[in-house]
Amino acid sequence: MKTADHITVMLNEAVEQLKVTPKNWYVDCTFGAGGHTGLILEKGGNVIAFDFDQEAIDVGKAKFAKEIEAGKLILIRENFDKLTQTIKHLQEINSIDAISGVLFDFGTSTDQLMADDRGFSFSNEQADLDMRMDNRLGVKASDLLKVLNAKELARIFREFGGEEKANAIAKVIVRMREQNSQQLETVGGLVKAISMAGRHQRGRLHPATKVFQALRIVVNDEMSNIENALPQALELIKPGGRIVTIAFHEGEDRLAKYAFTNWEVQGQGIRITHKAQTPSEEEIAENSRSRSAKLRVFERNI
Ligand SMILES: C[S@@+](CC[C@H](N)C(=O)[O-])C[C@H]1O[C@@H](n2cnc3c(N)ncnc32)[C@H](O)[C@@H]1O
Repeated sequence: MKTADHITVMLNEAVEQLKVTPKNWYVDCTFGAGGHTGLILEKGGNVIAFDFDQEAIDVGKAKFAKEIEAGKLILIRENFDKLTQTIKHLQEINSIDAISGVLFDFGTSTDQLMADDRGFSFSNEQADLDMRMDNRLGVKASDLLKVLNAKELARIFREFGGEEKANAIAKVIVRMREQNSQQLETVGGLVKAISMAGRHQRGRLHPATKVFQALRIVVNDEMSNIENALPQALELIKPGGRIVTIAFHEGEDRLAKYAFTNWEVQGQGIRITHKAQTPSEEEIAENSRSRSAKLRVFERNI
């Protein structure tokens, strides 16, 4: 399996916003390669970290063996939409008191995107069109291409990918599967459909980028996981505690923005960021993947 090393986005900004106090507990909902978790630990905080990808957990357990052994890090393979029940359970069996902050760095890691056998990357055309970050999920991207009608496919490509040729691509997919549905079981099959629909390279973006992003979001139920988890995070943190979100997709960022604004109106706390914080020019120059990141912060006051 080929992987690439994930570079943590807005590392210092996100951890600074959590205002880490030594020995307090923080929840990292999206452990990934553990960049944010590592810095919280360095600052003396304790961390409960979630990731629903077994590979991220396996690598993390080896990388942070000392901290896990010392009881400073609890690493769990779980969907962050089960935040409340998981933390409650942990609090019953460990001496964990209140939670001082929760961090979300939404989406996929570069390790996942570049792995050539998981269906996220265009580099291996033979790869199974899978795209599940959590391989316990029941539906792969190729299953969606087989069961959804052209209208539903087009809506997904438009809504979650912003794909301008959504209708044309959806129609080609339906035509291809009527001829032979096996064609759409691989990365190469979908890339071919996108090219047949007249979607060609413009600028640096691969022509399949938007459709792949849209399918990935739907396969992993990314929007509803965020919608379900944000109110749980608010319930979980103690007064003065903060929630920090980093989003790369407009829709994900909108969920955090609306939740934080509503909570402020309800008097639950204040938005620390009225306008989203963005990466520095230096960070964007060093890691172009960071360019679309938006960071938001909410502080609970009751
Ligand atoms: C952008 S990466 C996080 C990178 C991390 N902050 C770092 O510094 O390395 C997102 C990670 O969150 C995980 N993830 C995405 N949605 C999740 C969910 N609903 N529950 C648990 N983990 C999730 C992914 O598997 C991926 O490893």
